[in-house]
Parts: sequence; structure tokens; C-alpha cells
Amino acid sequence: MFLYKLFSALLIPVTVLSNPITTSIEQRSPGNVVQAGSPVVIDANGIYIRASPLKTGGLIAGYTAHENGQSILRLAQSDNSGSSWNFIGEVWRVDTSTHDVDNAMPLQLPSGRIVYAFRNHDRTGNTFTYYRLTLCYSDDGGKNFVYASTIEQQAATPNNPNGLWEPFLRVAADGSLQCYYSAENSAVDQDGYMKRSIDGGITWSGWTKISGGDRTSRDGMIGVANIDNSGNLIAVFENTESGPFTVDYVLSHDDGNSWGQRGRLYTARNGAGAGAPQVMNVGGTLVTSFMTDEDVAGIPGSGYDGAQMKVVTSVDGGQTWGLATITGDARSHWPGLYTLNQTHFLALYSKDGLGAVSQHYQLVN
Ligand SMILES: *[C@@H]1O[C@H](CO)[C@@H](O)[C@H](O)[C@H]1NC(C)=O
Repeated sequence: MFLYKLFSALLIPVTVLSNPITTSIEQRSPGNVVQAGSPVVIDANGIYIRASPLKTGGLIAGYTAHENGQSILRLAQSDNSGSSWNFIGEVWRVDTSTHDVDNAMPLQLPSGRIVYAFRNHDRTGNTFTYYRLTLCYSDDGGKNFVYASTIEQQAATPNNPNGLWEPFLRVAADGSLQCYYSAENSAVDQDGYMKRSIDGGITWSGWTKISGGDRTSRDGMIGVANIDNSGNLIAVFENTESGPFTVDYVLSHDDGNSWGQRGRLYTARNGAGAGAPQVMNVGGTLVTSFMTDEDVAGIPGSGYDGAQMKVVTSVDGGQTWGLATITGDARSHWPGLYTLNQTHFLALYSKDGLGAVSQHYQLVN
């Protein structure tokens, strides 16, 4: 009840993070999702796409391509809201046999610099030997990247997973750069964290815990969205508290400095999994994506990784969520989201046979 009143008070007016357009509560985008375009290929070999706005109005997408025994972190750009994409630059390439790089996350800072975080692990065969979350940056629009910092790192401990995964970047209201990520305590337990940089990603604070300190669960793949531009944020993440992957959330009322009020956002039907979530604010409506195998039984080539991308929406700041809509057909992988404007967003996913794609969706009554 307290939460309901709090949100009611805070939801007027509603503003979208990437588009500084203020709307009244009556104008908030509705919660039904309809397809508004076909999949558009970003890169035939791309996987795990994250996108961010450019100050010039375009958008950039980071992802990993695996080609000829190498893993390549790339950046693509669209100047027509995701109707077509151009390759811009390469961040780094390594031999897949000795390195595990993935989880690209690009973000343009207010200065114009583009930062790009990723997981950057050493391995011998299938055994990880060292874990890192690395940040690179570009001052020429993404054509060339250089090393900025190691956000977090640790040597692998034998026989007990202690990996570092899925960096998610956002700029806070005070101008600081926040990096959210997941760190394993063991094979069955992983927690969410955040570090902050006040110098554009060159040095980092100690960590703040986002979730998981109070339970045994593989909390992972954090995404964060602004609820109302008044310091209220939602973080979504997958977890294994009930067995299969489900989607949970936590809230912050101080722009990410502290987090709590954990709740369940989505549980897949039929004992299936729902994981790899992301969340965005589209015209005041929250959109959460995930991949789920709840409807793919019997579809050849489909599994949990390789299922459908679905989204659910909330028009009350995350208190309640509607029914799921499919936004990526079976044999899709590792989805993401991008807010285009007050009513439209992109689903981002890797599709067997196509590669990394973006696809337009619209919120309607
Ligand atoms: C929002 O974006 C979509 C897709 O690019 C576009 O068709 C639509 O006209 C845009 N709406 C506004 C109000 O600009």
C-alpha cells in the first residue's frame, strides 16, 4: 500500500531517459505491444546486443562476433532508428581458444566519448583462469578504441566458479558513470553489484551490492531503467531461487545508490525458464524483455538458449505487469531493448539463420 501511494505520487510527470520529453500521466504510452517492422540484420555473426543513444540522434549497438576462431567486439550505428545499420569500428579481437570475451555494453558519455564495457576472461581449454570486466573508449565516434580501465577482476579459483559477468552502464543524474554487473560466489550463488566512476570510467569506486546478499540464487544479467526521472530506478535480473530461471526486480529511490524491495516480475509457465532480462522506459511505460522456452516445446533447434524473446509491460511504475508478447520468434538468443521515442522501441536479439537483428515494436491501446 505504501508502495502504491509512493508511485502514484512520483509518476507525475513521467519522462523518458533518452528523450527529454515530459508527458502527463494521461499521455503515458499504453501497455499493449504490437509488431511495427521485420527483423533488420545488424551483423550476421553478432550475439548479445546492447544499444545506446548518440547525442547526434542516432544509436549505437555493441555485440560480439565469433569468426574463424576469433571473438571480435564490434560497434554498429544506425541513423534511421534501426531501419538499417552500418559497421563503425572494432573494439578488440582475441583468439576464442584462450580468451572468452562477450557481454558488450556501449554508452556515449555527455562529453561525447563512447565507452564500451565487456567481459574479458582468460581460459585454458574450458577452464577459466582469470576474470575481468574491461572498459575501452573511443573519442572518434567509435572507429578506434583504446583501453580505459579494468572495472573488476579476479583470478579464477579452482573448482569453485567466481566469474564476473554482464556489465551494464548508465550515467546517473549527478553525471557519474555506474557499472552494474554480476559476480559468482559458487556454482549455485551469484550476486548483483554496482561500481561508480566520476572520471568517465578511468577509475572506479568500491562496489555496492544490488541483490542476492540475502539468499542463495544465481542473480544475473542486470538491466536498469529510470522509472520517473526523480531518482526512482528499477533493476531486473534473472535468478534461480525457485529452480528454473525467473525474472526478479529490485528498486532504488536514490538514483542507484541503494537498492531493495525485491519482487518477482515473471515466472515461466510449464516449469520452463525465463531469463536474460532487460528493462527500458518507453514513454513512461516500463518494458521488460527476457528469453523463455515456455512455448517452444517440440520446435526443432529450440531450447532455453534459443527460445522466444518476450516482453511484458507495466503502466504503473513496475507494481503490476501485463501478459507476455512474443517479440522474437523461436531460436532467438540473449535479447536486449532500445527506446526509440514515446511509443516505439527496438527488440534486439540474435536469431538463428539471421544473426544479430533489431526489430521495431509499438505500444498501443
Ligand atoms: C517513433 O519511432 C517510430 C519508428 O522509428 C516512428 O515510426 C514514429 O513516427 C516515431 N514517433 C514520433 C512521434 O516521432
